[in-house]
Amino acid sequence: MRLLVVSNRLPVNVSVADGQVRFTQSTGGLVSGLSSYLDSLGGSVSGDVEYVWIGWPGLTVPESLQEEVTSRLHADFRAHPVFLTEEAMDKFYHGFCNEIIWPLFHYFPSYAKYESDYWQNYREVNGLFRDAVLAVAEPGDIIWVHDYHLMLLPKLLSEELPETPVGFFLHIPFPSYEIFRLLPTDWGNKILKGLLGSRLIGFHTQDYTQHFLDCVRIQLGLDVVEGWIRDLGHPVQAASFPMGIDFARFNSPAGLADVEKYQASLDPILGGLKTVLSIDRLDYSKGIVHRLRGYALFLEKYPEWLGKVVLLLIVVPSRIGVGHYRLLKREIDETVGRINGRFGKIGWTPIIYQYKFLPFEPLLAMYRSSDVALITPLRDGMNLIAKEYISARADRTGVLILSHLAGAVKEASEALIINPNSPEEIAAALKEALMMPAEEQIRRNTLMQERFRSHNVVQWSGNFLQRLLPEAGVSVGES
Ligand code: G6P
Repeated sequence: MRLLVVSNRLPVNVSVADGQVRFTQSTGGLVSGLSSYLDSLGGSVSGDVEYVWIGWPGLTVPESLQEEVTSRLHADFRAHPVFLTEEAMDKFYHGFCNEIIWPLFHYFPSYAKYESDYWQNYREVNGLFRDAVLAVAEPGDIIWVHDYHLMLLPKLLSEELPETPVGFFLHIPFPSYEIFRLLPTDWGNKILKGLLGSRLIGFHTQDYTQHFLDCVRIQLGLDVVEGWIRDLGHPVQAASFPMGIDFARFNSPAGLADVEKYQASLDPILGGLKTVLSIDRLDYSKGIVHRLRGYALFLEKYPEWLGKVVLLLIVVPSRIGVGHYRLLKREIDETVGRINGRFGKIGWTPIIYQYKFLPFEPLLAMYRSSDVALITPLRDGMNLIAKEYISARADRTGVLILSHLAGAVKEASEALIINPNSPEEIAAALKEALMMPAEEQIRRNTLMQERFRSHNVVQWSGNFLQRLLPEAGVSVGES
């Protein structure tokens, strides 16, 4: 069995400097989750699954280098590139994907710019992905399409490859019909019909699944019974599959010399201070400024903590080609400056701020060195950082403060759950987290760790593929 994984972004980004091609790791939940799953193939999922990952290599590759990039991606990463021009990328990726679908599906309708040019490019680029898949596909393959960039693709593929099972998974929220209907009707209809080209459509939570089914029923007038959409001539099912993480990779007790080295380098800086960790891609949906307001209120209301706590604020650069991301970056910089200026004193800075990508080892060191993780999205499809933090705590201490608007909250009821729009709730949760006895931390984290260990990323993908292809006998194993 061969699995074709199709997503906008490949797990590696290509860059070209002085005519030399370089490959670096991509960021984001989709890539980190799926990479772990694909790495595990052959080990934990039976049936000798092979895979090819088809997607965009992260920049417009000059024609003269396309052959080299293609062959290195094939040889080193089992990846097949979809090359896009600057203009297509701008209107498809920055435009339709990240200035219409992303804000709308994360309940920021006022950020959406309904440009018909963007829509035109979205359709064209989905067509280019179809061509790329057709160039690679062989009889007997299974195709798994991922995320909001490629919602027209399942239909385009099922028209050309009617025998090939196509599944789709959405990594972001699917909004309620009241939001979805803001899309021009023809676009919305084509998106829903595009998704219905799949045999199985997966979402992180039951709520998102229900929203999708409501849209199909109301907007397309189709009959929906217990998750099955009827009247299409072929069976289509929508269901929820909460994505897990590679638990063992994060939980491995101590070991990993590089992680320990990073942890040791943090000691002189964090030593004696309680540490609160905040880490996200730069994104307005993540509630980073809301979190900073909550932290400022905490310092104001509980001055006994001044000089005793530090917030490690890590922001990973993302989508700076989109105006709202650039504005957010400025707002974060200014807010951090204000808080440090107001509360800081010689020898103590309330916020240590880094704007950069963190590779795995320093990331794990940060998780392990932080007493609290403060994760406050205004909307988030899942939020794998919350699961990673808890899983990384090999001694099972640590407190997770989590927004009730993250998909992950459904599996993290032992966290301190807050509403990110309330600085008061964030400040109170910080106080509670910093005072929580270790036994209570361990009690809560034991329950969450058991859940994340069993509902890991291998289990997640195995469940999805098993539902897509019950007859193929894909069995699900432990990671
Ligand atoms: C989210 C999306 C992914 C995306 C990632 C990073 O996790 O669901 O599809 O790849 O963000 O965003 P970027 O725009 O850099 O691909």
